[in-house]
This record gives sequence, C-alpha cells and structure tokens, in this order.
Amino acid sequence: MNITDSIKYIGVNDHELDLFEGQYIVPNGMAYNSYVILDEKIAVMDTTDVNFTHEWMNNLKEAFGSRKPDYLVVQHMEPDHSSCIGQFIKEFPEAKIVASAMAFNIMKNFYGTDFPENKMVVGEGAKLNLGKHELTFITAPMVHWPEVIVTYDSFDKVLFSADGFGKFGALDVEDDDGWACEARRYYFGIVGKYGVQVQALLKKAANLDIQKICPLHGPVLSENLSYYLDLYNTWSSYGVEAEGVMIAYTSVYGNTKKAAEILAQKLVDKGCPKVALNDLARGDMAEVVEDAFKYGKIVLATTTYNTEIFPFMRVFIETLVEHNFQNRTIGLIENGSWAPTAAKVMKTMLEKCKNITFSNTTVSIKSAVTEQNEQQLDALAEELK
Ligand code: FEO
Repeated sequence: MNITDSIKYIGVNDHELDLFEGQYIVPNGMAYNSYVILDEKIAVMDTTDVNFTHEWMNNLKEAFGSRKPDYLVVQHMEPDHSSCIGQFIKEFPEAKIVASAMAFNIMKNFYGTDFPENKMVVGEGAKLNLGKHELTFITAPMVHWPEVIVTYDSFDKVLFSADGFGKFGALDVEDDDGWACEARRYYFGIVGKYGVQVQALLKKAANLDIQKICPLHGPVLSENLSYYLDLYNTWSSYGVEAEGVMIAYTSVYGNTKKAAEILAQKLVDKGCPKVALNDLARGDMAEVVEDAFKYGKIVLATTTYNTEIFPFMRVFIETLVEHNFQNRTIGLIENGSWAPTAAKVMKTMLEKCKNITFSNTTVSIKSAVTEQNEQQLDALAEELK
C-alpha cells in the first residue's frame, strides 16, 4: 500500500490477539502499523509485534527490493512496535537506529542492548535528511510512554504520530461504527490520563502543515484532518463531546438495574438527547469509561457491599479517577437493604476529581424501588435532562 509516491505501508493485522495490552478486547483485531520512506536514503518507521516478525520482514524487503535501509526510526518502545529491532539489525547491521535517549534506555531493559554500534540519539527538533524528505523529530512524552517521539516529514507533509490518533481494529476489517468509536475507547483507555501532554503535542502540531497522519494503529488519516484534530482537542482537554447522560450501574437482584432503567426512560421522556445505559458487570468496562468521558453528565448506581460498594463499580470509579476524569456533573443512586452507604462512598472516591458537580438529588433505595424512589428518580431526571 502506498501512502504517497515514496512512503509505503508495511504494517500487519493481528486477528489472534485476545486482549490488547493485556486488558482491552479487540473484536476487530489490531493493526501494528509501520512505514518505509524511500528516498536517496531509506528510513523505516518503527517495527512490529514479535508474532509478526516474519510477515513484517517480508513486507519490508518487498518495499525496498534489493536496496538496504539506512535508518530505523523507533518512535515508541512498547513491544507492539519495537519487538523486531534485534531482527532488523541482524539483517541490516549497517543501519542506524534513530530514537530518543530514553528509548535507548528502555531498549536495553527490554532487549538487553541499546545497540551501541547503531545508536543515533535524537531530541526535540532534530532533523534527518533522506534526500527530498527531511524528517523533524518532535518529543511527545507520555503520548503514550515517556520516550515517545513523533516525526514530521516536510516533503510529503506527513505526521508520523506514534500512538496518537490510533484506534483499535485491524485494517482489513470494515468498521461500521466509524473512526471515532474505537479511537475514543483506545484514547481514553491508553492515553486518557495524559491530557496535558496530548495538548502540548497538539500545540506543536498546530505549527505544521499536515496533509496526512500516519499512526502506529488504525487507518492513515488523510481527509478532513480537522475532524480528528478537533476530537483530540476535546478529549485531551476533558471537554464534553456529546450532549446526553451516561448511566452506569451494577445490580445484584435486579432492583438497582430497575432504578437505572426507570431513570433512563424518564430522561428520554423529558427530551434528553441521548441516554447511554451500561451494566458494568456485563459490558466492556473500557466502553463505559469511553462513554463517561464522552458525555457531560453521568449517573452511577450501585449497591452497598461489605460496607463499601459493589466491586465492578469500585473498579470503574478507580479507573475514572486514575484517568483524570473531570469537568462533569454526576448523579448517584445507591441501594442497601439495611444500611445504604454507597452514595457516600462513591462521592468520597470522586472527590479526587477536578471540577465535579454533584446533582442535588441522590436516590437512596432500600432493596426495591418504592413510590418515593420513583419521585427521587423523577427529580434526578429533571435535573439532568
Ligand atoms: Fe501501540 Fe503504546 O503502543
């Protein structure tokens, strides 16, 4: 696949993976992207996952035929991109590895060597001339690891964006939900905590004339780039992407679920533009995390459990806090047969988040939903609609 006349795609699709990074389901598989820039000198942009060494090597050799690569640019050291560095150097011992100083430290940790014979350290603003193509390296710490650099090619006006603008899903699977759905789940799961750092990268990118974005996962982006850049700006500034209410619940005997469903119906009846209802025990929690960041208002409904809260809700709130959840309005529904304390526990956990407003109404259920609870749910829907 040609990205431009002189940039070729040499990545692979993974359909065997059960959990990406050990935790995210990827029903449409995963792509590990890699690119070759063909000029007077040849640069390879990142490698791939260890299980695809052979396929990647074949793609690589097909891309430049009898020529030999001069540089391997390592933008990110996570093993889904760096696992074939050793094999590459074995095949092409003359090539230079171009990476940040920290990437070489991490290389040594993962692979026992930082390839001193091949090492070429680059920092912010360093340039590499390939002939017509001039690469400029831009540091992007914590997008997604501290060693990350992204690379701008001024000849074809391409930004190689490392994990930025990545997405779950292999490239040979049609994604009916469009780019944003799996890109958002990927973003908030993987980089969500580091909004400040993503904002810093977006500021640097704003000074560049970018025609194409080549990420390490997901499709190459080449049209309507402002759509993707605007979404990244909203996500990384923890802004509200869509009007509506996200309800996340856990339920032991169905009563808390019933309350959540009553609330959802009341919101719809009152004209709320969108209600997303999620069962934390049965759904994909990464989807619910994504929804929590997408909408401006969320409702959490759970039972009191061991004087705490139900485990799935505890993990969910901890995940939100850890990912820098902020700028949201939150409503709470608690259930407890003899001493409901879940609302207090949830509130205390969420107090670590910045700029959170709690609704005036908290719904407190003692086992089953009563007439009085219905009224509380109505008041909550009125506040949040
Ligand atoms: Fe795709 Fe952070 O590795």
